[in-house]
Amino acid sequence: MTTVKNAVVLVTGGQRGLGKAFTDALLAEGAAKVYVTARTPKPSEDPRIVPLPLEVNDEQSILRLAEAAPDVTIVINNAGATVRQGLTEVGLEDTRNLFETNVFGPLRVAQVFAPILAANGGGALVNVSSALSWLAGSGIYGASKAALWSLTNSLRPLLAKAGTQVLGVHLGYTDTDMTAALDVPKNDPADVAKGLVVALVNGDSEYLADDASRYAKSLLTGDPKTLVIV
Ligand SMILES: NC(=O)c1ccc[n+]([C@@H]2O[C@H](COP(=O)([O-])OP(=O)(O)OC[C@H]3O[C@@H](n4cnc5c(N)ncnc54)[C@H](OP(=O)(O)O)[C@@H]3O)[C@@H](O)[C@H]2O)c1
Repeated sequence: MTTVKNAVVLVTGGQRGLGKAFTDALLAEGAAKVYVTARTPKPSEDPRIVPLPLEVNDEQSILRLAEAAPDVTIVINNAGATVRQGLTEVGLEDTRNLFETNVFGPLRVAQVFAPILAANGGGALVNVSSALSWLAGSGIYGASKAALWSLTNSLRPLLAKAGTQVLGVHLGYTDTDMTAALDVPKNDPADVAKGLVVALVNGDSEYLADDASRYAKSLLTGDPKTLVIV
């Protein structure tokens, strides 16, 4: 169980999309301060919101972030990207870049912030994956989120030793810039964020935010041919 009231939170990519919704929900629940990152951060009028720069593919940027946010009790690895090319045509450089952003960056954030969370009483590490961790999408994105899911599961028992809750988040299409080009039904980011706060407070290991992610996970013990987006 993680205390959100008076928490000091870091939300990577917290100035727009899901990250902004997480920030708003945590502040509404009584968080004292939220560090929000962007590659080019914009000033905030809310004194509880502290914008900081982060390029998650740059280790020095992550280390500078840790120096600027030594009091965090909850870290949300939310920043992420996608590529539109299909799995049979995406180039190696785009593939590597996507894994840098969605896998290696969040892992480095977890490594750098784990001792900070431990020193501040345990708290929580949240990794934002996707329903596509478990479904055969047409692109490389799902593979990157599956890798993040695996890392999340491996980090959980390691960080538990210091009392840190490790929470994996999975969700289907949600209405942000990432999905702006897709004409499909989408979750409201505010609804996803409200559920995240509940999962933190409950001390959950995993938060499946919608029917899409619950359906995807339910298929895992069956024939892999069924792991397709419906
Ligand atoms: N929207 C969906 O349907 C959906 C579904 C499942 C999972 N997710 C996941 O949810 C998370 C948030 O996505 P979103 O929908 O809010 O996407 P978004 O609107 O495209 O926002 C992406 C966020 O990630 C940050 N970011 C991207 N690349 C970065 C980098 N190299 N270094 C630092 N920050 C970087 C961006 O920061 P800047 O402001 O600097 O650009 C931005 O805040 C992602 O991990 C995404 O994969 C989204």
